[in-house]
Amino acid sequence: MKPGNDEVVRLENVKRHYLVGDETVRALDGVSFTIRRGGYWAIMGPSGSGKSTMLNILGCLDRPSEGAYWLNGENVADMGDDELSDHRLKNLGFVFQSFNLISQLTVCENIEVPMMYLGIPPHERAERAKALAERVGMGHRLRHLPAELSGGQRQRVAIARALANDPAVILADEPTGNLDSATSVQIMQMFEELYGQGKTIILVTHEPDIAEYAKSRIVLKDGRLLSLEESPVQRNVTPEMESGNA
Ligand SMILES: Nc1ncnc2c1ncn2[C@@H]1O[C@H](COP(=O)(O)OP(=O)(O)O)[C@@H](O)[C@H]1O
Ligand SMILES: [Mg+2]
Repeated sequence: MKPGNDEVVRLENVKRHYLVGDETVRALDGVSFTIRRGGYWAIMGPSGSGKSTMLNILGCLDRPSEGAYWLNGENVADMGDDELSDHRLKNLGFVFQSFNLISQLTVCENIEVPMMYLGIPPHERAERAKALAERVGMGHRLRHLPAELSGGQRQRVAIARALANDPAVILADEPTGNLDSATSVQIMQMFEELYGQGKTIILVTHEPDIAEYAKSRIVLKDGRLLSLEESPVQRNVTPEMESGNA
């Protein structure tokens, strides 16, 4: 059944199996859950439990072998590659452990990259990138290269880039894994702000104190849901809030 409008992610009995020699590895083995608009989730689990496989599927970098993945009301399984990549650019923002900024591009240009892929004209891109840089406290570093920034500053730029196309969902993969603890707190405060502004956040982490920032939690084990703990979304999130225009 097509998800309701308050559901931004829905997995129905998702499996991802790999054939290795004559053995089947069940990286995900029948996982179902729903993430409501404006939720803040941590996905946890020991090494080998399926977190990266789950993140790749949620991020539309991989498809389930079986089951359905609905992202913002559309079933990913029904999409061709081009449509999927478009859907991904419009609906998802990514934040990685190692920042993944392009070293030859300035702060402003890095933030513009996802807008470029959607064909947004240069003038509008630059203007939006500047506003986003300001939103993450990096407005004074627009012409700097990533190498001229601290780790925490690079991650702020990566967060601005994740927001470039106003996605419904921010996917973060161990976003503080390369940062010291004081800087990690600052970055987690930034996610807290985005949550307050109505963004849906999905954070993959194996660090319990980072997972504590999230409001809801999923724990994976051997490719299955070991536990799911959802706290209700308190706010009534409107699309305007989600896009940061409220
Ligand atoms: N491309 C692959 N081919 C075969 N097995 C894989 C592949 N990717 C992951 N796996 C296996 O699937 C299981 C889950 O892996 P993964 O999602 O990377 O777990 P986690 O990120 O939680 O450590 C592991 O047993 C892993 O060895
Ligand atoms: Mg992993």
